[in-house]
Amino acid sequence: MALDRQPTRPNDLRAFWMPFTANRQFKSAPRMFVAADGMYYTTSDGRQVLDGTAGLWCCNAGHRRPRIVQAIQEQAEELDYAPAFQMGHPKAFELANRLVDIAPEGMEHVFFTNSGSEAVETALKIAIAWHRARGDAGRTRLIGRERGYHGVNFGGISVGGIVNNRRVFGALLNGVDHLPHTHLPENAWSRGQPEHGAHLADELERIAALHGPETIAACIVEPVAGSTGVLIPPKGYLERLREICTRHGILLIFDEVITGFGRLGAPFATQALGVMPDMITCAKGLTNGVIPMGAVLTTPAVHDAFMQGPEHLIELFHGYTYSGNPIASAAGIATLETYAEDGLFERAAELAPYWEDAVHSLKGRRHVIDIRNMGLIGAVELEPIAGAPTQRAFAAFLAAYEKGVLIRTTGDIIAMSPPLIIEKAQIDHLIGTLGEVLDALD
Ligand SMILES: Cc1ncc(COP(=O)(O)O)c(C=O)c1O
Repeated sequence: MALDRQPTRPNDLRAFWMPFTANRQFKSAPRMFVAADGMYYTTSDGRQVLDGTAGLWCCNAGHRRPRIVQAIQEQAEELDYAPAFQMGHPKAFELANRLVDIAPEGMEHVFFTNSGSEAVETALKIAIAWHRARGDAGRTRLIGRERGYHGVNFGGISVGGIVNNRRVFGALLNGVDHLPHTHLPENAWSRGQPEHGAHLADELERIAALHGPETIAACIVEPVAGSTGVLIPPKGYLERLREICTRHGILLIFDEVITGFGRLGAPFATQALGVMPDMITCAKGLTNGVIPMGAVLTTPAVHDAFMQGPEHLIELFHGYTYSGNPIASAAGIATLETYAEDGLFERAAELAPYWEDAVHSLKGRRHVIDIRNMGLIGAVELEPIAGAPTQRAFAAFLAAYEKGVLIRTTGDIIAMSPPLIIEKAQIDHLIGTLGEVLDALD
């Protein structure tokens, strides 16, 4: 019957329920991208828009990179799909090895997922199962952090700390506690890591004392919290968290979904910040955002605890139909090659001081109450309109888009995370346009 229907209705926007979008606002004034190349999107009305956000923090090598496009095309021709369970294909193994090559020393195993959210669920499940595998089945409690974002699945929103992502979804995971966020007013206008707040990690000590450390499986944090408005870890904070986790036998998970793949001028934040977790979750830049893929990286200590018992038995009852999908794996390999060929992680490190000066040059513009940055991440926080939070930043987003610049907003914070290929002149254009937008805002 479906074949008898009208073939397409391209201008009918009703059917697609858009994610994390003001659907009615969007559908009354749609903003459509129809093509992308390098640093620019093309809109449906033929305008070029400078990508100040690497899509959603994912297109770190910029758009339409030939090597990635070709790898996907060739892989689709050669092996489109292979079962992920009890069967393998070479590209998934190759990508895992290449990831280990650039990962912090000591991260030696990779579990593939299809998104950051799934990487988080996977890491949380591995953490609980790991303790059990070692005879410590009482360790089931998970610790997250206020203002943390770990994707949208039940585990992720349970350890996450964004009220709107949690409050309408009923019962979340039991046995979850939260550290306080690290965003302190005295750190306003910080360049790079702020001075104050290392002591906030001691809250983990308090939570451990409250519940008994022998009940806690893992603590998950973003090294730099992105989605809640770019919260940079205070100096010494992550080090202290590591020390407390180690002392109490708690696994430390870094959610590197946005900080992975060069954003801070090193492959992972773990290397940029010099603090080693027990597991890393990543996604986004893993395939340059082109094909959905995520991963959990683990140490041998985590992985090897599962490799026990009769060899014909499955060790971990977890996985996805598309774990290590051939086309995603091919895209991942080509992406890592592109990063290496163009020296993009080093480039991000070199550009970071210029970026920092540019972002902080917005101090003094209308409504700006804080600016912060790290690597190629920058945030400009605006004074909210009384009684109408988020409205001012959303107006800035719309105005910037009209002026040909893509930024991202969360609450009243403007977050920017351009592709690592951005040129200095494009940084000037991005920041200059944003300055004009801010000056014109109500
Ligand atoms: C730190 C972090 N974790 C997890 C996720 C979820 O990733 P995905 O949207 O691919 O599920 C995100 C997405 O922005 C993220 O920033």
